[in-house]
Amino acid sequence: MKAVLLLTLSFLFASLTNLPLAFSKDDREPVRDTDGNPLYSGHPYRIRGKDSGGVILGKTGNSNCPATVLQDYFNGSSGLPVKINGPDPDIIYTDTSLLDINFTWNPNCANSLWSVFKDGEIEKLYVGIGDSSNHGNEQKISGKFLIQKYGSQPSNSYKLLFDPEYESHVRSVLIDVGTFDSKGGRLLALDMDKPFQVDFEYAVLLLTLSFLFASLTNLPLAFSKDDREPVRDTDGNPLSSGQVYRIRGEDSGGVILGKTGNSNCPATVLQDYFNGSSGLPVKFKGPDPDIIYTGTPLDINFTWNPNCVNSRWSLFVDPTINEAYVGIGDLQNHKEDQLYSGKFFIQKYTSQPSNSYKFVFCPYYPSKSTKSVPCFDIGTYDNGQEDGKRLVGTNDSPLIVVFEKAYKSDATIKSV
Ligand SMILES: *[C@@H]1O[C@H](CO)[C@@H](O)[C@H](O)[C@H]1NC(C)=O
Ligand SMILES: *[C@@H]1O[C@H](CO)[C@@H](O)[C@H](O)[C@H]1NC(C)=O
Ligand SMILES: *[C@@H]1O[C@H](CO)[C@@H](O)[C@H](O)[C@H]1NC(C)=O
Ligand SMILES: *[C@@H]1O[C@H](CO)[C@@H](O)[C@H](O)[C@H]1NC(C)=O
Repeated sequence: MKAVLLLTLSFLFASLTNLPLAFSKDDREPVRDTDGNPLYSGHPYRIRGKDSGGVILGKTGNSNCPATVLQDYFNGSSGLPVKINGPDPDIIYTDTSLLDINFTWNPNCANSLWSVFKDGEIEKLYVGIGDSSNHGNEQKISGKFLIQKYGSQPSNSYKLLFDPEYESHVRSVLIDVGTFDSKGGRLLALDMDKPFQVDFEYAVLLLTLSFLFASLTNLPLAFSKDDREPVRDTDGNPLSSGQVYRIRGEDSGGVILGKTGNSNCPATVLQDYFNGSSGLPVKFKGPDPDIIYTGTPLDINFTWNPNCVNSRWSLFVDPTINEAYVGIGDLQNHKEDQLYSGKFFIQKYTSQPSNSYKFVFCPYYPSKSTKSVPCFDIGTYDNGQEDGKRLVGTNDSPLIVVFEKAYKSDATIKSV
């Protein structure tokens, strides 16, 4: 086996002297997706070229099974979702972790696991799925993939490497995965000189959205310029990113944190059942350095967070209750669930002059080829078994909220 492999490699690389060396432990850091979140084992991601198309499957040679991994020539393509699994049960790390990559879907004629195959005609080793029989009985080279940062920039840009399975006592040689334009499409081919620069995009499953909203017809659309006006607190002052606020229902309880499901970390955002509760303080950050406007994308953070989790609001999908709910932290704090990429917005609840608002969440799909899903309101969900009502995506009954300045010390001092 070893001899065969070296032979195969040697036709690709006349000299092996320039091969990248193995990595040290220090190189290990979480791989991050295009939103900056760590990649989680088993979650769906799309692999895209930097400024270019996603990774898909296609037929090459005389094969009638789409078992060759290709980069789509169409730059808008976001590619087929993959799952990545490594030695760590949760997080995918760079460099030393040997990884399995599987598409989340596979054709009937082949399994979903990525391997490398030899194409004797063009003298390339390329990435495909299935077995030799799916690749004109050409040699299959088993091995594992690795992910390494592309260049030293802080950006979340990576390259893939392949580690052929040598006999264990032989130190392996890692080879970059590049691209090669062949008759059938752009192959992911092993290449010493030009690695394929990729990023990983969390794949939100449209299926999940469709079970949440049987009919999408009434959903609010994206915002127009006219929607933009300062959000005002209960005193009528514009909300500022430098200030701290509490979010309350108009005639009901404040927004707090609680534990839900089996979690032992209070990472779910709840509306307190107690009407007198004013809620935990939050800060808003929008595109304007100071004033918070309606109809603009916002980051919302609690000003305090438990040790087990960070403070930023996100939207997660809980398949056991079929709801998309607001939580803090990342997927580690919400293990069984899915994370929605997107942004929160504040919108006026009515056209009246009162300072009451609703939250709107707009999922985003960076790929222009994917039909975008409209924004939806945030309402409440009450199962009577938690410390409050969850804030969840809704089609028709938004929670009406007001914003109260958390610390009114300025006013007090002035009035003295
Ligand atoms: C895709 O993007 C690449 C790099 O930005 C560019 O060179 C290429 O012309 C684009 N191709 C198409 C079909 O738009
Ligand atoms: C990947 O595919 C291989 C081959 O079908 C299979 O044995 C393995 O369980 C798959 N891994 C995942 C995580 O689906
Ligand atoms: C809280 O206020 C709502 C609306 O005003 C009311 O329906 C509810 O009964 C009140 N709950 C409590 C516990 O006071
Ligand atoms: C909100 O929390 C996130 C995650 O911890 C952090 O990156 C961000 O800087 C925080 N934003 C604000 C305004 O505190």
